[in-house]
Amino acid sequence: MGGLLHLSVAMMVIRAKPDWCLLAHSPAALPVNAQRTPASCVYAVYLPAEPRSARRKAARVRLALASAPDLRASPKRSTGLASRGKLNEGVAMADRILILYGSYRSDRQGIHLANWLVRAFRERGAEPELIDAKVLDLPMLDRMYKEYPAGQAPSALAELADKIRNADAFVFVTGEYNWGVQPGLKNLTDHFLEEWYWRPAAIVSYSAGRFAGARAGVAWHSILSEMGMVVVSSTIAVSGIGRTFDAAGEPQGDSGASLTRAFPRFADDLAWWAEAAGAQRDRVTPPY
Ligand SMILES: Cc1cc2nc3c(=O)[nH]c(=O)nc-3n(C[C@H](O)[C@H](O)[C@H](O)COP(=O)(O)O)c2cc1C
Repeated sequence: MGGLLHLSVAMMVIRAKPDWCLLAHSPAALPVNAQRTPASCVYAVYLPAEPRSARRKAARVRLALASAPDLRASPKRSTGLASRGKLNEGVAMADRILILYGSYRSDRQGIHLANWLVRAFRERGAEPELIDAKVLDLPMLDRMYKEYPAGQAPSALAELADKIRNADAFVFVTGEYNWGVQPGLKNLTDHFLEEWYWRPAAIVSYSAGRFAGARAGVAWHSILSEMGMVVVSSTIAVSGIGRTFDAAGEPQGDSGASLTRAFPRFADDLAWWAEAAGAQRDRVTPPY
């Protein structure tokens, strides 16, 4: 099942059907008369996590694809929303997470890591999307998105701006070139500024060698802070990137095992901040 309902229609459904629940990314976003005991939830209707002003205008809710018992019972979600008790508070809502990756090399290795992260976030109930700078292939920075007159930015820029504005969190997957950041990802990132504000970002670094791209990771920390993101303290650092994934893209060996071990805490940290930032954006309009 899927689609959009007006909030007023959704509320009629919620009132008429005791086994339906309205779920949102933050308790503050829920109409008081829509709150239900989670144990009685059979179907879920999501209130999208747009900024409050946008939601007031749109006032539409998304009909869920999944039923609430699925959210509770699926073993894939054992490290995800349900295990963190979000559903028990009646407020489960998938985080929209952009996974950004920027190597342009023909034989690039980090793409396996980026693709695995997309799968891992999806398996824990988030809505991840890979933003591959090479696929988008933005030109070398000329005008930032905001410098175009309204409606005149190239469509690739405008579409990406929308995705960034609508995301709950970001994951920057960074390799290291000569102790620095990869230019493709930096170029993509620099096209935007305000679009990134008021959301958390996490860094996953990697390299061929033992230092796992740590120096690029450190550089990204200050770049992302400067661009208005809250950089979470959990990081993932993958050494020996060329040996970390098998032919099917699954983690293998010591490095693969260390990645799978590190992921749940990393993802929990990012989800906690995504929820906190979302609740605060709803509670108080950002100051600028
Ligand atoms: C131009 C260039 C510079 C590099 N510099 C570093 C470096 O400073 N530190 C490091 O650990 N690895 C370095 N490497 C090796 C990369 O970690 C390795 O090639 C990695 O796979 C690059 O990511 P990608 O395959 O996603 O492009 C460098 C590779 C290239 C192509």
